[in-house]
Formats: sequence, structure tokens, C-alpha cells
Amino acid sequence: MTKAFITGINGQDGSYLAEHLLSLGYEVGGLVRRSSVAENQTYRINPIESKLKTYYGDLIDQNSLADAFRHFKPDLIFNLAAQSHVRLSFDMPGFTAQVNAVGALNVFTAAKENCEGARIYQASSSEMFGTSVDPDNYQRETTPMHPVSPYGCSKLYAYSIARNFRRAYGLHISNGILFNHESPRRGTNFVTAKVVKGALDIKYKKEKFLELGNLDSYRDWGHSYDYTKAMIKLLEYSEPLDIVISTGKAHSVKDLCKVVFSKLGMDYEEHIKINPKFLRPQELPYLQGDSTKAKQILGWEPEFTFETLVEDMIMHFEASYK
Ligand code: NAP
Ligand code: GDD
Repeated sequence: MTKAFITGINGQDGSYLAEHLLSLGYEVGGLVRRSSVAENQTYRINPIESKLKTYYGDLIDQNSLADAFRHFKPDLIFNLAAQSHVRLSFDMPGFTAQVNAVGALNVFTAAKENCEGARIYQASSSEMFGTSVDPDNYQRETTPMHPVSPYGCSKLYAYSIARNFRRAYGLHISNGILFNHESPRRGTNFVTAKVVKGALDIKYKKEKFLELGNLDSYRDWGHSYDYTKAMIKLLEYSEPLDIVISTGKAHSVKDLCKVVFSKLGMDYEEHIKINPKFLRPQELPYLQGDSTKAKQILGWEPEFTFETLVEDMIMHFEASYK
């Protein structure tokens, strides 16, 4: 196994994953979409770009995937590309389904026809569980899936067709069911990065308030650096698997605000305003993952805690204010 191909290589996870793979000696290729502002498009992979082989393409253009696969000849394929924002999936459910559901089908079909023997990783999500929680307050591989967003529904299709292709055609496809993971490279319209950046704007007197939506939902937040290592362990494992990756600890959005603001010497209650614009038509109230299977089978353990994740994000974002 020497060549790894990543769709979504310039995203948060794609950039960490590419770095890990290069450090392990893999040749790394990836798919990049055309953008009118090329400079911003690849900022997360600019430091390693000379070591990568990138291809222009799009998940909804199956020919572009097939051409890239035929040219690069990957042993491992990581399908990370997606419209990954849950609230925005309510604004564009059709586009979300095209990219996340039909796009994943396109990746599996192009791999089936052009990359015999390749192992495929599908970026599945805890959002697929929706409102379903086991009686002990955890979600795990056996928990029923009842998604509550167009994003969750699209990911459930991709998860299911991955399992179908595995059984029907013998493809080595694994689903990583990842709970929320963040980092200094997180897009600033996700809540962790938004809160860190918003609190810093207040500390450095650029803003007085931060507007948020629902403060009462709980998420199991880990670090993308750790979770992308789990993706490699999953594909290096001999059998295809469906596996949960999580920290096992849930915090509310309110807890997140409390921790971030207090680390910056402020009281969040004096600065947060609720704006209904950031509420969702249907909310997913509670996520907490049980990753016992990943620990036992893959030997995976996260290095970052919730506290050190928040500190890493604050340190990174604060550097640009000084
Ligand atoms: P991200 O930062 O939003 O990255 C998404 C990547 O997909 C970007 O490189 C984006 O390119 C690309 N992309 C979007 N639409 C595309 C299309 N039609 N064709 C080709 N590329 C396209 O997301 P992430 O946090 O790295 O997440 C990686 C994957 O894991 C996603 O599938 C996400 O749904 C899934 N996931 C994430 C989490 C999490 O908490 N982060 C948890 C579970 C699952 P542009 O830059 O051009 O938009
Ligand atoms: N984005 C955002 N913006 N979320 C807010 C805000 C706000 O202003 N205010 C409150 N929240 C709440 C959301 O309602 C949600 O309950 C929680 O913060 C987390 O929201 P996000 O950070 O947008 O993440 P997500 O949980 O919806 O989705 C992320 O995790 C999924 C895995 O569970 C994304 O990374 C998905 O791609 C991923 O699959």
C-alpha cells in the first residue's frame, strides 16, 4: 500500500490526513474543486502542496473521478469531500444530497471500475444517529440511525451504499462514523471556531457581542489531528469495518462558551446574544460516542482532550490579533 488519494484534500480533515500520510511515506494525491479565488481554496495544504499530486474535479462529475483514479492509481481512497455544514443543508438539501450521497456513489463506482483492490474510506458522521441514543446515553455502531437533517440523511445514504457495495461486489469499503472534530483549521462558521474567534474579537475590542443559536445542544468534540490518524488505522486494518471515533465526553454549547470566555478572562453571559437566524428547523440535541471498538480493534486513542483542543484553537486564532 503506497498511494493514497483524498477527495476534500484541502478541507480541515483532508489537510491533516495528507500530512499524516506523507509522514508515513505514502504518495498522496487529491481532488480539488475549481474556485474563482484560487488562493483561498488551498490555504490549508499550501505548505505541503509541492509534495502532493492534485487533480481538478468534483464529486458530482463522475468522469473527473474516474480520470483522476486512472491516472493516480491509488491503493487507498479517502472520500472526505462533502457539503459538510448541517444548518446550511436545510438551505440547500438538493445540493447536499447530490454531493454527499450521489457523490459518494460516484466515488465508489469510479473506484470499482478503475481501482481494483483499492481500499476505500467513507467519511460517515455521528449526525446519522439523529435523535437516537442508547439507554446508557451513548451512540455506538449498533445504535439505530434516525437522522434529523438533510445532511444526516445524505450521509446515511452514503453509509448504506458503502455497505451495499462491500457485500454486493466485495469492495473493501470502511465507514468511519466520526463524532464532531475541530482544530485550528476548522471553518469559522462551525460553532467551536466561531466561539473562539468571536471571544477573541470581544477581548481585542473589535466586537461587543457574539450571536449564536441553540446553546443547549451537546456535542462530543475531539481534534481533527487525532481523528485523521484513526482514518489511516481503519484502512490499514485487514478487514473493512464500520467504526465509531469519538472521545466519549459530551459538552453543551454553553459549556464551550463558558470555557473559551473564561480562558480569555471574560464572562460569556455578558457577551452572548441569541439570534434565531442560527437556529435549525430541527436540532440534534445530544451526541456522545462510545469508541470502545476502535480502541480494541485499531488500538486508537485520542491525544487531545476537550480542554487542550480549545487551548490549541485559542492559541492559533489569537496569534493573528497580536
Ligand atoms: P470541510 O472542512 O468542510 O471539507 C470539505 C471538503 O470537501 C473541502 O475540501 C471541500 O472543497 C470539498 N468539497 C465540497 N464539495 C465538493 C464537491 N462537490 N466535489 C469535490 N470536493 C468537494 O469538512 P471536514 O471537517 O474536513 O470533514 C471531512 C469529511 O468528514 C466531510 O465529508 C464531513 O461531512 C465528514 N465529517 C466531518 C466531521 C467533523 O466534525 N469535522 C464529523 C463527521 C464527518 P472546497 O474547499 O472547495 O469547498
Ligand atoms: N454552526 C453553528 N453556528 N452552530 C451553532 C451556533 C452557531 O451560531 N449556535 C449554536 N450552535 C449549535 C448547533 O445548533 C449545533 O447543535 C452545535 O452548535 C454544533 O454545530 P456545528 O459546529 O455547526 O456542528 P454540527 O454538530 O452541526 O455538525 C458537525 O459535526 C457533524 C458530526 O456530528 C459538522 O462537522 C458535520 O460535518 C459533522 O458530520
